Amino acid sequence: MIRIYLACLFTFSNAVFSNHIGTPIKTNDRPIIGVLAQEVYKPTPHRNSYIAASYVKFLESAGARVVPLMINKSDDEYRRLFRSINGVLFPGGGVSIKSSGYSKAAGIFYRLALEANSNGDYFPIWGTCLGFELLTFLTSGKLLLSRTNTSGIALPLNFTDGKAIDSRLFKDFPVDLMKSLETEPITENSHRWSITTKNFTKSKTLKSFYRVLSTNTDGQKEFVSTIEAYNFPIYATQWHPEKNAFEWTRPYIPHMPSAIKTTFYMAYFFVNEARKSFHSFPSTEEEEKALIYNYKPQYTGSKSAFEQKYFFD
Ligand SMILES: *[C@@H]1O[C@H](CO)[C@@H](O)[C@H](O)[C@H]1NC(C)=O
Ligand SMILES: *[C@@H]1O[C@H](CO)[C@@H](O)[C@H](O)[C@H]1NC(C)=O
Ligand SMILES: *[C@@H]1O[C@H](CO)[C@@H](O)[C@H](O)[C@H]1NC(C)=O
Ligand SMILES: *[C@@H]1O[C@H](CO)[C@@H](O)[C@H](O)[C@H]1NC(C)=O
Repeated sequence: MIRIYLACLFTFSNAVFSNHIGTPIKTNDRPIIGVLAQEVYKPTPHRNSYIAASYVKFLESAGARVVPLMINKSDDEYRRLFRSINGVLFPGGGVSIKSSGYSKAAGIFYRLALEANSNGDYFPIWGTCLGFELLTFLTSGKLLLSRTNTSGIALPLNFTDGKAIDSRLFKDFPVDLMKSLETEPITENSHRWSITTKNFTKSKTLKSFYRVLSTNTDGQKEFVSTIEAYNFPIYATQWHPEKNAFEWTRPYIPHMPSAIKTTFYMAYFFVNEARKSFHSFPSTEEEEKALIYNYKPQYTGSKSAFEQKYFFD
């Protein structure tokens, strides 16, 4: 137990898998990650909330299992789940950042994660698109978003000078992939709101909490596109790493080899973060009951931006 505790502290500050004398540090090779559901736009019987299957496939492709985190559950239930899983992902989507079941549940996991990490209990969080915007809201307590013309476009990343290569997120990416990310339109943007570099920088809280790893522009406004927290394993992209390999419904989603590689390396990074968490379900039965394997994704690609979705009551 003591050894694991020390290992967590060590990996937290160094994000590596072996210590100075080369002894491999124990990792959790059966990580389970919670993916947060959100309200459907028009509820119908048994279809009140959903998770796009691409987020599940994204995590599974890098060796994690997924547990759906349902909305509108009790704080106690979220606390129980938090002690059972090894990380959470806040997906993109279209619900309120201030008042949805999605944002309420995310706020609870965010606060639990801050507390746990501060006590040496490693617990990573990932936010994509709406999840990115939500994290900036949870951290700053303010909605600092601006309208941008970015609702369906693939862009190269503008890495913040010298920051990306020594970031935890990108430092182990292959050199050729980093070059591709900088020069090819690989990162798919599907958002009407962004946090401009200006607004981000003006917020003392955001500026001191997150390191900006990349920015982009819609031609008028420069906005923040990739962040990692300085002192917490919290990561977010305004763009969609999961879409390249798993969504085909829109012509602007890139599928070239470098784009697919990006999906994998982003997932591989985050799942490795979850391998540093040692939370677990109290029993195998409870674990089995919680896994997403209990639900069937539906084909929705003919009507929606997502090829497949999981629907929940
Ligand atoms: C969840 O709660 C929100 C408000 O807190 C409500 O608008 C929404 O309909 C609820 N959704 C479900 C699926 O229970
Ligand atoms: C954020 O930027 C927009 C301009 O894009 C501006 O209208 C808005 O007031 C800014 N918000 C804050 C809180 O600085
Ligand atoms: C938005 O961006 C697209 C290119 O992605 C461009 O064709 C279009 O003219 C832009 N619209 C506005 C209102 O700037
Ligand atoms: C990249 O960001 C820098 C500032 O960090 C800016 O000067 C430059 O114009 C940006 N390039 C593009 C292509 O957006």
